[in-house]
Amino acid sequence: MKFFIDTANLAQIREAAELGVLDGVTTNPSLMAKEGIRGREAIDQHYKTICEIVDGDISAEVLSINKDEIIEEGKKLAAIHPNIVVKVPMVKDGIKAIRWFTDNGIRTNCTLIFSAGQAILAAKAGASYVSPFIGRIDDTGWDGMELIGQISNIFSIQGYKTEILAASIRTSNHIVRAAELGADVCTCPLESILGLLKHPLTDLGLAKFLEDAKKM
Ligand code: G3P
Repeated sequence: MKFFIDTANLAQIREAAELGVLDGVTTNPSLMAKEGIRGREAIDQHYKTICEIVDGDISAEVLSINKDEIIEEGKKLAAIHPNIVVKVPMVKDGIKAIRWFTDNGIRTNCTLIFSAGQAILAAKAGASYVSPFIGRIDDTGWDGMELIGQISNIFSIQGYKTEILAASIRTSNHIVRAAELGADVCTCPLESILGLLKHPLTDLGLAKFLEDAKKM
């Protein structure tokens, strides 16, 4: 399973990249706004900078919701760097635009996936990735991970090439469950990635080794 970081924060992207396990980055308008990135020029420059830090797929989300505008915006985003993947929302015009991008060699990530039916539609349109939002499903009292398992089964039975990108990850355990259930990618906040390091027995064991090392 590939690890992406889900942020537009450059310090966090650098920190995750330094771990040596980072395969890509996802952003969205909320994450970009949180970093104070405003205006077309600043947005494009921010994506350029991220592409310089991480050599892997970088999802850049369109802000339009009708087909022609999504295509125009997506073409410009894709021209920023070969690693840019155009992130398109799961709406009817988004599916039409994904089909156009597929036919024109531009890779896409279909975002805001909350059902297996939506994932099938995006895969049929040729999306490179589908992004089911795990944490937001959990927030409503359903089990987001069930959706990862369901999409994983369907894609494997049907032979779809679209990769499953588990998104809206909130905990380190979400990452482990996504790996178990066959997600191809997990996009995570930095804290969830770093959380994978932690176990109290590791800390206790290390303290003992360091203590005994003094006697060597
Ligand atoms: O990858 C999608 C993600 O950014 C949404 O996460 O925590 O806002 O549900 P969250």
